[in-house]
Amino acid sequence: MSLIKKILVAQATALIVMAGASAQAASDDVAARLKPVGDVCIEGQECAAAAAGGAAPAAAGASAARSGDDIVAKSCGVCHATGLLEAPITGDKPAWAARAEVSGGLDGLLAVAKAGRGAMPPGGTCGDCSDEELMNAIKTMSGL
Ligand code: HEC
Repeated sequence: MSLIKKILVAQATALIVMAGASAQAASDDVAARLKPVGDVCIEGQECAAAAAGGAAPAAAGASAARSGDDIVAKSCGVCHATGLLEAPITGDKPAWAARAEVSGGLDGLLAVAKAGRGAMPPGGTCGDCSDEELMNAIKTMSGL
């Protein structure tokens, strides 16, 4: 091999080694940048982040939907416990079933509860209820 060829081979080898090292560093950077910002937790299943001891507060908050009993006690019971203003009464399943029939099932009832109807204000007076929480309340009251 001529001297010039040896030099070229040596340089090429050095380049390959350097490229390999920086590619490794670069892929570490990329992995860090691509790391998910949060974790998705599914209700009823243990959250991966929580299991690892590092639950993201947002994820913890999202899974903490209040129960139907809580929402009914706080917001809906005032009318739905006694049938005030002709609200369907909690536990009167046939009355709720008849309304579900007209409004399009539980989802239809939820839509009406969100929008409000007649004497019932939007969200049934629960301004900070999520859809899930309103649905919990509807299921609790209707028994459906
Ligand atoms: C101020 C009294 C009042 C409160 C508070 C209230 N409701 Fe109602 N609700 C009514 C009345 C009255 C009706 C019947 C409305 C009508 O058909 O004209 C009704 C009807 C409903 C219906 C039946 C809708 C349909 O499609 O027929 C649902 C579902 C419902 N309420 C859910 C809720 C939920 C959930 C809450 C609490 C988050 C709540 N309500 C709080 C008065 C109230």
